[in-house]
Amino acid sequence: RMMKVFVTRRIPQEGMKILSSSGVTEVCQWDSDEPVPRAELLTGVHGAHGLLCLLSDKIDAEVLDTAGPNLKVISTLSVGFDHMALDEIKKRGIRVGYTPDVLTDATAELTLALLLATARRIPEGVEEVKNGGWSSWKPLWLCGYGLSGSTVGIIGLGRIGLAIARRLLPFGVKRLLYSGRTVKSNAAEVNGEFVSLDALVSESDFIVVSCSLTPETQGLCDKTFFNKMKNTAIFVNISRGAVVNQEDLYEALKSGQIAAAGLDVTTPEPLPTNHPLLTLKNCVVIPHLGSATYSTRGEMSALAARNLLGGLQGTDMPSELTA
Ligand code: GLV
Ligand code: GLV
Repeated sequence: RMMKVFVTRRIPQEGMKILSSSGVTEVCQWDSDEPVPRAELLTGVHGAHGLLCLLSDKIDAEVLDTAGPNLKVISTLSVGFDHMALDEIKKRGIRVGYTPDVLTDATAELTLALLLATARRIPEGVEEVKNGGWSSWKPLWLCGYGLSGSTVGIIGLGRIGLAIARRLLPFGVKRLLYSGRTVKSNAAEVNGEFVSLDALVSESDFIVVSCSLTPETQGLCDKTFFNKMKNTAIFVNISRGAVVNQEDLYEALKSGQIAAAGLDVTTPEPLPTNHPLLTLKNCVVIPHLGSATYSTRGEMSALAARNLLGGLQGTDMPSELTA
């Protein structure tokens, strides 16, 4: 018997091939690069057995009720799952799949790129070349901060945080601090020192946020946090925008309380083009590109499809969210 699945966006063909060759799914899709409108999401999910969604789709009680009792599995094309009401999902006995691991390396690479671009002021330099501001090689011009000999603090040494730490070591980082809920046994591999959040914030030259968004981490990086940072320190966020209080970040950047910030994530996404953060030269904002390599997105697509099929057929899902 065919089972209906709703796919909320155009996704890499890897996943679509797996679904169509499975012989058990009847695929409905919002076949566009743009987000599915809420009304179309509700129509699409009605009576579905499976839902393949993105981090930009809010999956709440209304979506689940509209789907109805057929819905067995929700598979998100992301490692983050803060867009889904997990308590409501669990209550209805629906299984959840996500895409950890396959995006760890790409996200860690992007983090290093963003950190270096921000600290070495690459977007500003590119702009100066284009606008005629490059008049000469100048000893005091466009200087930034280097990783060599620095202290880096990673907030959340999970899969991605650890992959970032591994990539930082060859740059000659002097100390690698991390904070989070628990001491990580694999931190020894990167000489990671478990410290309090306070110590991490005040001692780091670079701070990288790579924790997940939870009630505990929402708004974690606020005025108090930025006021404890060194004036020469760089702040990088690759997790979720809501971990940061953006008004407080704006003030910290504007006043020179901190040196610069690199953001791959914001609230909201997309960030409006007239947002105050975009007026600052010391703020580098990129549009949520952490996992954006061709191969990684293909792997995410395939994994999301396999998770969906496992959930539909009541068998193992390669990456089931169990906690
Ligand atoms: C990206 O932010 C993801 O959650 O996969
Ligand atoms: C820079 O290009 C140098 O030669 O120092």
